[in-house]
Amino acid sequence: MTQISGSTRIFGIIADPVAQVKTPQGINRIARERGVDSVMVPLHVASEGLAAAFAGLRTIKNFGGMIVTVPHKEAAVNLCDDVSARGRLVGAINAVRREPDGRLLGDIFDGIGFVTGLERNGVSLRGSRVYLAGAGGAAKAIAFALAEANVAAITIFNRSAEKAEALARRLREQRPDLITRVGSPDPAGHDLIVNGTSLGLKADDPLPFDTTRLTAEMTVAEIIMEPEVTPLLAAARQRGSRIHFGKPMLESQLDLMASFMGVTAPAAA
Ligand code: ATR
Repeated sequence: MTQISGSTRIFGIIADPVAQVKTPQGINRIARERGVDSVMVPLHVASEGLAAAFAGLRTIKNFGGMIVTVPHKEAAVNLCDDVSARGRLVGAINAVRREPDGRLLGDIFDGIGFVTGLERNGVSLRGSRVYLAGAGGAAKAIAFALAEANVAAITIFNRSAEKAEALARRLREQRPDLITRVGSPDPAGHDLIVNGTSLGLKADDPLPFDTTRLTAEMTVAEIIMEPEVTPLLAAARQRGSRIHFGKPMLESQLDLMASFMGVTAPAAA
């Protein structure tokens, strides 16, 4: 890390708990590579304190912005002065930029990070039929980004079916030509299968859908980063499916989030 001085700009990652996050290392590496005098630090803030934290951060003139993560991504939308169109669509943000006048602007990079990660791995999305498990924050961001990447169809399967139905409706509003369905645990008939739930994070979690229906023609993608090989990916591998790890989603969005928050050399700012 660069030596911290009086002119170092501060960035944060706001979460509860926060000790497990790996993003500061990534953003601080990018700052170093870009020759920027900045540091990202963890901000451990509980939900009750979120509004006060945002109000305080507005007043800190050398504060550039922050990454927002669990459990604050949805609550943060209403604490920003402005939110990007896709952030409003998803109803969540994961990055905030502080303008020189103290205004806080929110945006979300989960979906674009996921899509960019897949494309970098050679998975072509245009025209493909996608099965998406989950309808929470991450799944919604992914669904809208997939719709934007011109997939042909998205089937959503979620434990709470009404959330899957609501997401399918919003997707149709955004792209009337997109084929949207509410699915079952059976992913058959799709090209790309995505786990957008939090299942797989804990060792004793059930599988997010029926993996006995996976085939060698399918690509199975995770959003869970740790463990790298989730029980879902292990099962998919056994069925001969192509697998895509959870990590590229974060890696692909680090650069985008750093630029959005203003971790940029003065000449490029
Ligand atoms: P995130 O921001 O990580 O997406 P979230 O918005 O809480 O977190 O969404 C979690 C997703 O995982 C949801 O789709 C959730 O299903 P519900 O909408 O029915 O809650 C899903 N999920 C979490 N635990 C689950 C479980 N035990 N079984 C099935 N689905 C589960």
